[in-house]
Amino acid sequence: MVFSIFSIVGRRDCIRTAFRLALEKLHHINKRNMCGIVGYAGGREASEVILKGLQRLEYRGYDSAGMAVLNDGMNIIKVKGKVSELAKLSKKKKLNGNIGIGHTRWATHGEPNEINAHPHTGSHRNFSLVHNGIIENYDVLRRNLEEKGHLFAGESDTEVLAHLIEEIHELSDIDFFQAIQQALLQVKGTYGIAVVHKYHPDRIIVARKGSPLLIGVGEGENFVASDASPIIEYTKKVVYLEDEEMAVITRDGYEVSTLKNVPLTKEVHELAMSLEQIEKGGFPHFMLKEIFEQGDTIADCMRGRLIVHENRIQLGGLEGFVDKLAGARRVIIAACGTSWHSGLVGEYLFEYLAHMSVEVEYASEFRYREQLIDERDVMIVISQSGETADTLAALREAKRRGAMVLGICNVVGSTIARETDAGVYTHAGPEIGVASTKAFTAQVTVLTMMAMLLGRQNKVLSDAMMKELVKELNNIPKKVEEILKDTSVIEEVARLFTYAPNFLYLGRSYNFPVALEGALKLKEISYIHAEGYPAAEMKHGPIALIDEHMPVVVIAATDHTNDKIISNMEEVKARKGRLIAISSNGQSGVGRLAEFNITIPETHDSLTPLLAVIPLQLLAYFIAVNRKCHVDQPRNLAKSVTVE
Ligand code: G6P
Repeated sequence: MVFSIFSIVGRRDCIRTAFRLALEKLHHINKRNMCGIVGYAGGREASEVILKGLQRLEYRGYDSAGMAVLNDGMNIIKVKGKVSELAKLSKKKKLNGNIGIGHTRWATHGEPNEINAHPHTGSHRNFSLVHNGIIENYDVLRRNLEEKGHLFAGESDTEVLAHLIEEIHELSDIDFFQAIQQALLQVKGTYGIAVVHKYHPDRIIVARKGSPLLIGVGEGENFVASDASPIIEYTKKVVYLEDEEMAVITRDGYEVSTLKNVPLTKEVHELAMSLEQIEKGGFPHFMLKEIFEQGDTIADCMRGRLIVHENRIQLGGLEGFVDKLAGARRVIIAACGTSWHSGLVGEYLFEYLAHMSVEVEYASEFRYREQLIDERDVMIVISQSGETADTLAALREAKRRGAMVLGICNVVGSTIARETDAGVYTHAGPEIGVASTKAFTAQVTVLTMMAMLLGRQNKVLSDAMMKELVKELNNIPKKVEEILKDTSVIEEVARLFTYAPNFLYLGRSYNFPVALEGALKLKEISYIHAEGYPAAEMKHGPIALIDEHMPVVVIAATDHTNDKIISNMEEVKARKGRLIAISSNGQSGVGRLAEFNITIPETHDSLTPLLAVIPLQLLAYFIAVNRKCHVDQPRNLAKSVTVE
C-alpha cells in the first residue's frame, strides 16, 4: 500500500505520508558551539525575529536563554530553560524595539541559571553582550576587575568580558567600538560576540575568534547569527566573519574590519539551503525526518560525482590534490563523535579499495600527542558542522607541520571547510537533530567515492570491480528507501527493549564502526548504556555481561565474515543473550539464531555500513520516543562542540 502511494506523489511527500501512516499505527508515539547568537537591526520587531531565530538555534543544545532590545533605553530579559519561556516573558514585558540581540546558553562556566544567562552587562547597565565560546583567562581578569571595584552577579566568563569592556571604556577617552577591540585583545580563548549599547541605539557590534558568526545581509535590515538557520527566512545573502574580525551592523549596512582596525571588503555568499530544509516537514522530530531523508541525501552526495556510464568517480573538490593524496606516506583521519565513526569506516575502505594505510585519530587526542606528521602525510578531517573545536585544532596543527589537509564537511562555508586545502562537501542539507544520522551516511558515501577514486589512481581496483562498485553504490539510495518502507520489526524490538538498562552492539570489519555508531545513537538519545565492540573481542570481556536480560545487536551483513559472526552469535545464544541481528536478505544461518532478524538488502560488503546503520538509527529513535526522551535535543549534548 505504501508502495502505491510512492508512485502517485513525489518521493519526499510519499516518505512523509508513509511515515504519518506508520505513526497512526504507532499510537504510543505520543552542538560545543553550543550556544547560539541572533541579532537584528531593521524595521521589524526585533524581539520577534530574535525569538524565532533562537528557536531555530535550539538544536545546538542549551539550558538558558535571553535577549536585549533597544528602544528608549535597553530592556533585558533572561530565563533558565526554554526559548518558549523567554517568549512568554517577552510578551509580558512588551519588549518593543527594532534592534536587539539574543542568546541560547549551554553552560560551561557557572551553573545554568538566570544570572549566568546572557546578555551580560557591566555595572552601569549601559550595554548588553552575548557571547559564544570561552574566555580562558577570565579568572585573572575577574580578580583584577574586582580589585578595581567591579562587582559580579554570577560566575560566567562572559560577565567578566562585559566588565572588562566597561572598565576600558570608562577609564579612557576611546569610543565604545575601540573599547571592545582593546578588551578582546586582552582576552585569551574563543569568542563570537554581539553587543548593543543604549547610547548607540542604531548598531550591533560583533566580533569573532574561534566561534562562528555570520552577517545576514537584507534590504533595510541586517542580521547576525552563529549559523544561517535563524536568518534563512529573511535573506540568503551572508558574509562570514573570520577569526579576529569585527563588524558594525546597522539597518542600512555593515562595516567589517580586523581587530586591529584594518577595514575589510568581504565577499557576500549566497546560501544554498532553504527554509523547508530546516523545518520538520510533517515528521514529529528532526531526527526522524533526517533518517528518512537518507535515500535522497546519499543520492545528492553522489550527484555529478558518481559517473555511472563512464564507470568513474569525479570529485571536483579534490582536483589537483589526488596525486598527493594517493602518494601520501600516511593518511591520518581526524574527527570527533559520529564523524570519527565514519572515519573508521573510511579506514577499511581505503585499505581494501585503494591499498592505502590509514590511521584514524580522535581529533582531541591527536592534538596533544607527539606529532610525527609532516609534509609527506595527508590529513583528512571529517566534520558535519565544520566547527568542532578539536577537529579544527587538529587541522591547524597538521597544516602548521606542513601536511596537506583535506576536509569532508557538511556545512558549506564553515570554518573547517574554509581552512582545509581542499575537500568534498557531503551535501546532506542542514542536520538539525543533535544525534547525527544523514551526515554519517553522506560522510561514508564521500569516503567510499574517495577510496574508489584512489583505488583507480593506484591501479589496484580492476575495471570489473570498479564497475560492480559503481553499480552497487548507485543502487544504495533505492535500498535505503526499501529499508525505510517497513520499520515494523525495528519498532517491535524497540517496544520489547525500551527499558533495558544495557545494550551490546557487535560487528566485524566494515561493520565494527557501525556497531560503535549504533551504540552511540542509543546512548545519545535514550540514555541507555550501550557499548559497541568488534564481535570477536566479545570474548575478551563483554561476554561476562551476557545473560538472559542482555540485548545483543549483531550486524551480520558482510559475507566475508559470515562464518565468524555466526560463531559469535552462537556464543551469545549459548549464554541466553537476546540476539537481534541486522543481516542481508538471504544470509545463511542468521535467522536460525536470532530472536529478531532485521533484514537489509544485499550489496557489496564494503557498502553495507550505508545500509546497516539505518535500522540502528531507527532502533535508537523508537526506544527514545518510547522512553519519552527529548529526541532532537538530548540532555547535556550539543550539535556542534566548539569548546575543547
Ligand atoms: C557533537 C555532536 C555529534 C557529532 C560530533 C562531531 O558531539 O553531538 O553528533 O558527531 O559533535 O561533530 P562534527 O560537526 O565535527 O561532525
